[in-house]
Amino acid sequence: MPEPLDWLPDGTPYSQRFQDRYHSDGNFGLDQARDVFMRGCDLPQAWANQPQWRILETGFGLGLSFLVAWQAWRADPARPNILHFISCEAWPVSAADLLRAAPAELEPLARELHDQLWGLLAGVHRLSFDGAACCSPYI
Ligand SMILES: C[S@@+](CC[C@H](N)C(=O)[O-])C[C@H]1O[C@@H](n2cnc3c(N)ncnc32)[C@H](O)[C@@H]1O
Repeated sequence: MPEPLDWLPDGTPYSQRFQDRYHSDGNFGLDQARDVFMRGCDLPQAWANQPQWRILETGFGLGLSFLVAWQAWRADPARPNILHFISCEAWPVSAADLLRAAPAELEPLARELHDQLWGLLAGVHRLSFDGAACCSPYI
């Protein structure tokens, strides 16, 4: 059973469980994902010219960290050959909610993620994108 989401009047996804918004930057969480996650991890500079790169995230949430990392990896001429993105989530939302929450510029990537998020059971799942060069196991 996917984790239910509420949607606030301004379109922000809201967690009943945590009584909190998933993000609050007014730009579908995009600024927050870039400022807090990407810049906080010194990416994409840190992975430049590395053969591969691994990211471990707690709280997959709406997948925004994954989507901005994947987008940056795709656009980066100095990207690692393989990006492993490992994320844990105790209460995964539905694929439909994940797609609905995606900012417009990430919608094509969110749709690819959405299309692989079906039939999930509790446990570890390995998803592969871009010919398995970008992977996201999902718990
Ligand atoms: C604010 S969201 C993270 C946002 C996420 N980084 C994104 O890009 O959308 C926090 C997430 O952590 C998850 N979470 C909270 N406690 C957890 C736990 N103990 N184990 C795994 N996931 C947890 C919540 O379900 C929620 O999806």
